Amino acid sequence: MAVRTILEYPDKRLTYEARPVDTVDDDVRRLVDDMAETMYAAKGVGLAAPQIGVSLRVFVIDTAADDEPSALLVFINPEIVDKQGVVLWEEGCLSFPGITVEIERAERVTVRALNVNGETFELNADGLFAIALQHENDHLNGKLMTDRVSLLKRRMMDREMRKRAAE
Ligand code: NI
Repeated sequence: MAVRTILEYPDKRLTYEARPVDTVDDDVRRLVDDMAETMYAAKGVGLAAPQIGVSLRVFVIDTAADDEPSALLVFINPEIVDKQGVVLWEEGCLSFPGITVEIERAERVTVRALNVNGETFELNADGLFAIALQHENDHLNGKLMTDRVSLLKRRMMDREMRKRAAE
């Protein structure tokens, strides 16, 4: 296992649509291990493979609170098959360190994906978990928080991130 470097906006690789995983094999499981280690090291609640420069449809999520045992969930080739309700949520992203922004999301989602054994599962999510699922799924489609806000807000985020990158 290894902690990988997390790509930050405006890295172009964050904007590419990721490829589906053909076979859930040991290479994919090693990738998942690295992603989990990288996410925990950065104290994130989710991480998508494109954020470490791997263009595959894989993300990990752990929304357990600090005082709860960790609860890692792995999603391979995920699909959001149902969405209900609307909610505004203040989101952050490991690719936008130090920046949070309010984004409109579905309140509840149903997701279907493969687990690390290549088995299909489906689950319903609400609260932070539903937000994280939609946020990480966006990464697989090359969509970032900047794509979900007003043009004005997007320009502010862009300016802030470029200023940080130059420091
Ligand atoms: Ni993110």
